[in-house]
Amino acid sequence: MTLPPTPLAQTVLGLETSCDETAAAVVRRYGDGRVEVLSSVVGSQIAAHAPYGGVVPEIAARAHVETIEAIAEAALAEAGFGYEDLTGVAATAGPGLVGGVMVGLSFGKAVALARGLPLAAVNHLEGHAVSARLGAERIDYPFLLLLVSGGHCQLLEVAGVGACRRLGSTIDDAAGEAFDKIAKAMGLPYPGGPALERLASGGDPARFPLPRMLLGRKDCDFSFSGLKTAAARLAEGVTEDVARRDLAAAVQAAIAGQLAEKSERAMQAYVREHAGRDLRFVVAGGVAANREVRDRLQAAAARHGFSFAAPPLAYCTDNAAMIALAGAERLAAGYVDGLDAVARPRWPLDEAAAAATPTHKAGRKGAKA
Ligand SMILES: Nc1ncnc2c1ncn2[C@@H]1O[C@H](COP(=O)(O)OP(=O)(O)OP(=O)(O)O)[C@@H](O)[C@H]1O
Ligand SMILES: [Mg+2]
Repeated sequence: MTLPPTPLAQTVLGLETSCDETAAAVVRRYGDGRVEVLSSVVGSQIAAHAPYGGVVPEIAARAHVETIEAIAEAALAEAGFGYEDLTGVAATAGPGLVGGVMVGLSFGKAVALARGLPLAAVNHLEGHAVSARLGAERIDYPFLLLLVSGGHCQLLEVAGVGACRRLGSTIDDAAGEAFDKIAKAMGLPYPGGPALERLASGGDPARFPLPRMLLGRKDCDFSFSGLKTAAARLAEGVTEDVARRDLAAAVQAAIAGQLAEKSERAMQAYVREHAGRDLRFVVAGGVAANREVRDRLQAAAARHGFSFAAPPLAYCTDNAAMIALAGAERLAAGYVDGLDAVARPRWPLDEAAAAATPTHKAGRKGAKA
């Protein structure tokens, strides 16, 4: 259903259950686009999945069922609100592990029905796409986005609410997946990305040469599988502390390097199409929490005349504030979903591009175990 756009403030309860975080948040978005995060509660299931080295879908879905209500109420309490103070409810409807997505979406529908609130069934990736707006900075459309998370690695032109054009994506693993799998091969705890970043600190990235993937190609696609295999093989023979640190530094530099190089290609193409306009580059998703990744991208943006923005660290990985904001933007633009909204385990942001390149991994997410 589409309603006329509303200039009034939206106060939205967001719900996120697409992977291994059960999260709820209350976000207010004013008519002029200003954003206030009134609360954000994230219940992590890391301890439940850690013994398996990755996310187990069945364990995740059960944990979401057990905690969603308490977490939603904690978010309302932290904001000092009741359900009656809300103007809308937003829940992740995909992509993600379908059991978990169904829990959050069903809870959101129940709140919408019981309280007579409009529902926004939000694409989780759209949540990541708007997450940089949760910081102090105001970021207007359009912008060039590197979405780099556990299940996705894509460059997108974001023209407005729900209007994304994909410029490139990974042809195999996502960058976060590469961090996690290499970290696992090195015996680091789950989740691997932050653990590998800590280990890499002070390491010599030049000690271990790793393959530089797809750099000769002119497109904006990524590939991490060759790097993953090479690093995992090296990891078998590297046991001494300094060498492990150097290998972690080499892996981090290789991933950050590829992200920066492909982003630069996308920036060059974007500049040609947006001559004379403000140029904005945004990075979002869990891997955007990585310092070296941020630094390399910020430098690349500066070289090409782009402003640079990244979400506050707490909103890089999964959270419900980004879902609430994406929902508030949808509701403000007049989009309302019905109670028949379905959970979509696969839901690419650019459906046409995904259909044209079915072998690319964009818009997909599965267990990372
Ligand atoms: N500091 C860091 N350095 C590198 N990687 C990191 C860091 N922090 C988190 N990550 C990685 O980010 C990923 C988690 O990000 P996020 O929560 O956005 O992904 P997801 O929700 O699982 O996947 P998607 O959003 O694609 O569905 C994991 O792969 C994790 O290792
Ligand atoms: Mg995510």
